[in-house]
Amino acid sequence: MIGVFDSGLGGLSVLAAIAHALPRADLVYLADSAHVPYGDKPDGFITGRVLTIGHYLADAGCRLLVVACNTATTAAIQTLRNHLPPSVSVVGVEPGVKPAVQSSVARHIAVLATEATARSQRLAHLIQTHAGTTRVDIAPCPGWATHVETLQPDTPAFRAEITAKIAPLLAAGVDRVVLGCTHYAFLTPLINPLLAGRAELVDVAAAVARQVVRLYGDHHEDQARLNLLSTAYPERLRAALPALGLHALAERASSAKLVNL
Ligand code: DGL
Repeated sequence: MIGVFDSGLGGLSVLAAIAHALPRADLVYLADSAHVPYGDKPDGFITGRVLTIGHYLADAGCRLLVVACNTATTAAIQTLRNHLPPSVSVVGVEPGVKPAVQSSVARHIAVLATEATARSQRLAHLIQTHAGTTRVDIAPCPGWATHVETLQPDTPAFRAEITAKIAPLLAAGVDRVVLGCTHYAFLTPLINPLLAGRAELVDVAAAVARQVVRLYGDHHEDQARLNLLSTAYPERLRAALPALGLHALAERASSAKLVNL
């Protein structure tokens, strides 16, 4: 069984890619909806949540965990790996700085991220490692994940906020925009029209799924189950699947259960 978790609904974008790549795998998705968003919380708090959830999923029988959250990966993936037995593999999600740099013609990219990811040493290191002479603008997007959590992000006020964030990046010559938070994949319909052929979005969900395929190995006893767990409002997690356009996941999922963690 593969365990995938996030602060809330954002990691469903990664789960969808994994489910597509591994149609027979048994999957469990845990949304920490009682504590969403993580992006405005201190690193110590996020690390505590990641350890609690990681241990819970490992004890439930997951032999591969996917931290489907850039913020949680940034704050806590190393600590999680240190606390789990080596028999449990851990895959994280980090902003796609490397693919964006490789494909940028303008040699100027931007990373949209939560405040916690934007300020992190880990993102600074990622940029230092992969950017070379390419300019990287980090754009913190406070509150954006919460808009996705409402399942109705398409409001005039939020559209204006997105435009105010993207327009200066385009004016500065950015030609790749990295979605550095798994929630932002669900804002693609709002962001893409603003790019108008001048820049492309970069998302790493498919690359994460390929890494999961490599690590998960033999699973012929799996039966394509998908269990949904949430630390609050489990019925909302179930309802989010069709609302976010994740119809294949909706067909595969059982009803969602509350877990008190
Ligand atoms: N989906 C998460 C990420 O990839 C976290 C969003 C949040 O909880 O602030 O960063």
